[in-house]
Amino acid sequence: MAVVHGPSSQEDALYLGQVPPEQWSRTALLHALQALQVPAEHLDPTSPDFVDRLRQHDLVLLNAHGPYGEDGRVQGLLDYLGLPYTGSGVLASAVGMDKVVSKALFRDLGLATPLGHLLREGEAPGLPVPVMLKAVDGGSSVGLELVEDLGHLAPAAAVMRAQGFDRLFLEEYLPGRSVTVSVMELPGGRRALPPLESVVAGEPDAVYDLDAKLGGHGAAQVDHRCPEDLGEQVLAEMTRGSERVFDVLGARGAIRVDFVVHAGVPFALEVNTCPGLQPASNLPVAAAMAGLDYEDVVLALLVSAGDANDVPW
Ligand SMILES: Nc1ncnc2c1ncn2[C@@H]1O[C@H](COP(=O)(O)OP(=O)(O)OP(=O)(O)O)[C@@H](O)[C@H]1O
Ligand SMILES: [Mg+2]
Repeated sequence: MAVVHGPSSQEDALYLGQVPPEQWSRTALLHALQALQVPAEHLDPTSPDFVDRLRQHDLVLLNAHGPYGEDGRVQGLLDYLGLPYTGSGVLASAVGMDKVVSKALFRDLGLATPLGHLLREGEAPGLPVPVMLKAVDGGSSVGLELVEDLGHLAPAAAVMRAQGFDRLFLEEYLPGRSVTVSVMELPGGRRALPPLESVVAGEPDAVYDLDAKLGGHGAAQVDHRCPEDLGEQVLAEMTRGSERVFDVLGARGAIRVDFVVHAGVPFALEVNTCPGLQPASNLPVAAAMAGLDYEDVVLALLVSAGDANDVPW
């Protein structure tokens, strides 16, 4: 089996640069696979012999995030090669990677989502400051900035475009509590795990930013907790909404839907179709709250890979 992980997107390149190897998700994954007695080899998706080496495997565990790894492109390659892989297929991955298209889906499912519009060069913003400037395909808070002064918008957009993000959008800033809901395929069907709130120590309502998220050297302390005090109705809205997102996308394995709860209303922000898999990442932590350990999560992902895709030639 191959475990795919490497610097194929800016978020994964940054991750590998900032997080010490002993904390890497692939370190934990290879460890868990060993415990499960599944022979596994790590493959770097950016290495020139990647495709040739993929062909030597019969199952692929995808642990690549952002463009190329999480947006349907590597999934399409694997479909084409007839290789089974963990997690979602092309459609769910591509839709989940695009935060603006995801908004249309959220609205269609009756989920609140912050107002947003694509930013076109030279066009005036249609939202007041403070406003979130985001890349449609950003992740791990790469390609995300809170703009507090309109004069800063054009330079911030120029920096993001220079980083290679060519589709940018503006989103209404709705300070609130950051909650994420994981939905996993488990024996008996897919189900939402307990909602998980991330609290950056000492900063309620803080933007849950890159350093906090990656948990590398010098990162702020992030606490996770089940936000029961939000009340049953809000929690049910998020869990049911996330399950419907999973169903409509035809997702596989596990997804995470991120929300910000503002003025008592959960606003859906984005869908992650390849959630982070450090033992301290949201998905394993939420799974632990539901009584599942890290190896159970890995096993559930392996089961989601299903059988080899029959290529019709
Ligand atoms: N419109 C908004 N209003 C207020 N806070 C926001 C808004 N959008 C994002 N945030 C804050 O920034 C965090 C990251 O936002 P978002 O989930 O859209 O980005 P991401 O970088 O793709 O995240 P991930 O690491 O989950 O891939 C949120 O969890 C929330 O704390
Ligand atoms: Mg997020």
